[in-house]
Amino acid sequence: MNANIKWVEPAPKRENWFWPTDAMKERAWVSDPKIYEESWADPVAFWEKRAEEISWFKKWEVAYEEEPYKYRWFIGGKLNLSYNSLDRHVEAGKGDKVALIWEPEPTDEPNRIFTYKELLEEVSRLANALKELGIKKGDRVGIYLPMIPEAVIAMQAVVRIGAVPSVVFSAFSPESLRDRMLDCEAKVLITADGYWRRGKLINLKRNADKGIEGTKVEKVIVVKRAGLDVEMMPGRDVWYHEIVPKQSPECPPEEMDAEDLAFILYTSGTTGKPKGVMHTTGGYAVQVYTTAKWNFNLHDDDIFWCTADVGWITGHSYINYGPLMNGVTTVMYEGAPDTPDYGRMWATIQKHKVTVYYTAPTAIRMHVKWGDEWPAKYDLSSLRVLGTVGEPINEEAWLWYFKHIGGGRCPIIDTWWQTETGANCVEALPGIGPFIPTVAGRPFPGIRAKILDAGGQPVPAGEGGYLVLEPPFPPSLLRGLWGDPEKFKATYFGEYGPKYYFTKDGARMDEMGNIRITGRVDDVMNVAGHRLATAEVEDALSQHDAVSEVAVVSRPDEVKGEVPVAFVLLKAGYTPSDELKKELIKTVDVHIGPTARPAAIYFVEDVPKTRSGKIMRRILKALVRNEPIGDITTLRNPECVEELKKAVGYKG
Ligand code: WT7
Repeated sequence: MNANIKWVEPAPKRENWFWPTDAMKERAWVSDPKIYEESWADPVAFWEKRAEEISWFKKWEVAYEEEPYKYRWFIGGKLNLSYNSLDRHVEAGKGDKVALIWEPEPTDEPNRIFTYKELLEEVSRLANALKELGIKKGDRVGIYLPMIPEAVIAMQAVVRIGAVPSVVFSAFSPESLRDRMLDCEAKVLITADGYWRRGKLINLKRNADKGIEGTKVEKVIVVKRAGLDVEMMPGRDVWYHEIVPKQSPECPPEEMDAEDLAFILYTSGTTGKPKGVMHTTGGYAVQVYTTAKWNFNLHDDDIFWCTADVGWITGHSYINYGPLMNGVTTVMYEGAPDTPDYGRMWATIQKHKVTVYYTAPTAIRMHVKWGDEWPAKYDLSSLRVLGTVGEPINEEAWLWYFKHIGGGRCPIIDTWWQTETGANCVEALPGIGPFIPTVAGRPFPGIRAKILDAGGQPVPAGEGGYLVLEPPFPPSLLRGLWGDPEKFKATYFGEYGPKYYFTKDGARMDEMGNIRITGRVDDVMNVAGHRLATAEVEDALSQHDAVSEVAVVSRPDEVKGEVPVAFVLLKAGYTPSDELKKELIKTVDVHIGPTARPAAIYFVEDVPKTRSGKIMRRILKALVRNEPIGDITTLRNPECVEELKKAVGYKG
């Protein structure tokens, strides 16, 4: 744990605090700040009230129960996520309402649009196809799909029959796919032939084939998206369009226990091996539904566009379940934000009259760089609420987003949460505010959070510390790590014990209770919104024959937030060269994917180590950030620091 917590920049000026207008308050589901005190006084009662808004086959008997490392919500309740996303709207007469608009990357291709009824029928057909392939309640199904409607359809179909989806980001390497499929022992994989990205066709099936070698995957369903000539393995592979359309459009939803597993999503911890975060059905449904509704002010006429990939938790909760459970229209875009030009996102908002736009700081910073003229070309007046997620947002990007995208009208909801929390946990509510650049806001009603020091004592307002969540834990907080209960305890409850969930984020809170996140305090990086452990990049680089030792740290980056930087010690017989750098980068591509590529590779003779031989990454971090290095006298090899200063061009 790194104890030097600082504000990333000076505290935001008062003149940059924004408050909701009367119109915003009127539209908001909540506009009275009393909701905070009331809900925090009795979170269980608060969440029970929220839970009554979704559909249950059977009501819960006990709302919340907790013992060390085990907390459960809505015990005895029965429900289904897909029923809540689709059937209940169709039954309420909203079958003809548009549920999903898909925007393909090529601009000459038509949109694909699904009404709630059409989506329900397609989901049911795929669910029946999965049953035909032998999938039963509790079985794991891998989903390795690009940003096409079938990604949402697949998640919905799997949870409909009580099976457990595990989505793997389509830009992850075959090896990353294999690790995950092996760990969760998936029986079926749903993938596609390929997809469009930045004007090029990417062959996904080839990666899928490599990735499932040696796993328990017996059947592969392949969506034809790109029209690529792919190899189909007889007896194992089946085209989506051959198995799905012939199925019945009716498939009764499985009655899931509130605490039945809903999905597994792998995320980076501090080691090289990703962790399978487990979310259960009831609590996840209630918190995702409520946060989508209240944070983005969702009403029947909203068109919600979340730009995240379905491979991340944001895509699960706010492309798929959140908007659909609320019965609004969700927009999904296949491709890159700069294709065919820098105006693509704004053109898409104009075209579909998007009312809520939810994106990441790294994307906003990219748009700032591309220039104000791009959004200025389009009519963005349909927008009502803007969201951001994934990393701390800097004041400049926030103000640009507010002015150039929101036209000064739209509140920016800076939502802090994690793969582990499943849904938003800290932000300002659109009808209450304040909206402060770089500050997320207060914990959502019904969620209790604190800032503690390393010893577990609360820190005074304004001082830096560590963000923890307190019981009753948020309904959608993870229930465990797949196959590793000990790691679950150690990772989240190791520092402070079972009474606090440790987020691993540094933060501070002002007198009003607004929380500013200062960033991760473990060895997890945030690269363009992608969560990555330094250890994962180290493990990947070590696979190359030339590497004898490697240390990876992060360096701030104007656009991506953070980027990995690698210090590499070569084995005897290898000499540094640009060629070798290229090979090392390729190794990272193969083992993780291009998102993990180091921004710089330094070939060095030695890296700073403690007397026990542990690499002092803190010193490397200071070197690449031009920050004070601190005391190096306790090192075993302090002399190497001079060489390193030269290598990185340290200015002190
Ligand atoms: C980490 C979780 C939650 C979906 C996307 C990322 C950082 C997330 C914010 C925010 C400052 C943020 C934290 C957190 N983070 N949202 N609004 N302000 N930091 O999910 O990959 O699980 O990463 O992202 O450091 O711990 P994730």
